[in-house]
Amino acid sequence: MKRYDVALIGLGVMGQSLARNIASQKFRVLTYNRTTKKAVQFIEEYGNDYLDYKANLKALVKELKTPRKIILMVPAGKPVDDMIQSLAKLLSKNDILIDAGNSLFKETIRRNELLKKKGIHFVGMGVSGGEEGALRGPSIMPGCDAKVWKSIRPILTKIAAKDFKGKPCVTHVGTDGAGHYVKMVHNGIEYAVMQMMAEAYEMLKSIYGLKPNEIANVFSKYNRGRLKSYLFEISVPVLSRKDDFKKGYLIDFILDKAGQKGTGRWTVIDALERGAVIPTIAEAVFARSLSSNKTERIVLSKLYKTRESKNLLSRKAFVKQLESALYAGMISCYAQGFELIRLAAEQQNWKLNFAEIARIWEGGCIIRADLLNFIHKAFASKRGKPVHLFMIGDIKKALQKDAPALSEVVSLGARSNVPIAAMATAHAYLYGMTSSVVPANFIQGLRDFFGAHTYERADKKGIFHTPWSNLDL
Ligand SMILES: NC(=O)c1ccc[n+]([C@@H]2O[C@H](COP(=O)([O-])OP(=O)(O)OC[C@H]3O[C@@H](n4cnc5c(N)ncnc54)[C@H](OP(=O)(O)O)[C@@H]3O)[C@@H](O)[C@H]2O)c1
Repeated sequence: MKRYDVALIGLGVMGQSLARNIASQKFRVLTYNRTTKKAVQFIEEYGNDYLDYKANLKALVKELKTPRKIILMVPAGKPVDDMIQSLAKLLSKNDILIDAGNSLFKETIRRNELLKKKGIHFVGMGVSGGEEGALRGPSIMPGCDAKVWKSIRPILTKIAAKDFKGKPCVTHVGTDGAGHYVKMVHNGIEYAVMQMMAEAYEMLKSIYGLKPNEIANVFSKYNRGRLKSYLFEISVPVLSRKDDFKKGYLIDFILDKAGQKGTGRWTVIDALERGAVIPTIAEAVFARSLSSNKTERIVLSKLYKTRESKNLLSRKAFVKQLESALYAGMISCYAQGFELIRLAAEQQNWKLNFAEIARIWEGGCIIRADLLNFIHKAFASKRGKPVHLFMIGDIKKALQKDAPALSEVVSLGARSNVPIAAMATAHAYLYGMTSSVVPANFIQGLRDFFGAHTYERADKKGIFHTPWSNLDL
């Protein structure tokens, strides 16, 4: 008898949590894992009428209601292709295969085309929220055809997190690679937001001399205001945890080398290829790479004078200014992310609703924050159209109020020799995008001088070249 509503393959950190979440909503889930021992242990601990496993794919496929729905939760790349190859032989026309890992959207488009030829529907589905989110309700970003969305919607709406109004944090993002693309940019924004927070931490620490527990208090205060977010919430325990081995705070013993799994890098590479402007996300990726140069940094720190603290505001005034600066910086960073998505949607022919994208990030995902509700409402006021965030009235008002603080904080960072590239680029993006004239005329003049690259004029149409002469030198 075909008893199961859905199968889940890959019982790692995310797969186990997602399978338990689906089963808890009374959908019957059949799981499979490459290493059977892990599946056996998982079912011993959590198995019930709604949750079981099979030791091989053939047996798994036989037990599923048709059209079959199978979720893959395996690492991106070859494991996904290998699983698709094994499953494609066992599946029938109209079955639905969902890749819920962090796959590159281009791979999703390729796999979609491949499976379409066999009549199998493919869904590239971004899932954010880590282990806890997958268990209690993630933000879910599926990319697929509209009729496939109808089939998977009942399960996804039940297992997703809830937005500020209690609606599920899932929407039909768009077709083929759109879901994985939006998830990739979400991760890029996550890099940028975390980097700005790290820069705020660094300024409070090295300019104002605050101890970790004092910074935790500042961040806790921010989390009770308009910066309220999951990342500020978890900053408090991360900063105030005492070390188990030595006297002091754990944070001071964590090595300052940040890891990365690649979605930030993918976002930046994609933006460069499309000609999109996401300097804050790029700087966040570079900052993680810079952090890895620990040995060189130690040597060089002995040769150069670093931190300086002068002309400081009172600590209380600075904490307030920094809150405003972070707010403006984060708006700038979201504007960059959404502009990248806009450009990609144009080039990939995706019809996206920006209000919906901001809405499904309100809950479940790592960047969930009150700010996303503000951005959701801002885009909703434009009926979800992909306008530039800076164009929207309420956003303009917020930036007019808070951007001066960002200028002050960036200036303090520069005066104090504290590298705050994410905040500085958030500032540069804001003032670059809101400048009717930028110095690209000068670049064009130089290019035409040394390479006869030609230029356009501001006052009349046409392509021009000036016969610059060495006599001009
Ligand atoms: N961790 C997070 O917070 C997070 C958040 C969002 C998205 N994701 C994405 O979700 C996916 C899964 O992540 P995870 O953290 O759950 O990974 P994980 O803990 O490393 O688990 C990976 C699972 O995939 C299986 N697997 C690995 N290689 C395989 C292969 N070649 N063929 C078949 N099965 C294979 C493993 O089986 P074995 O037991 O046999 O090794 C394991 O069950 C990734 O794409 C990840 O980027 C992760």
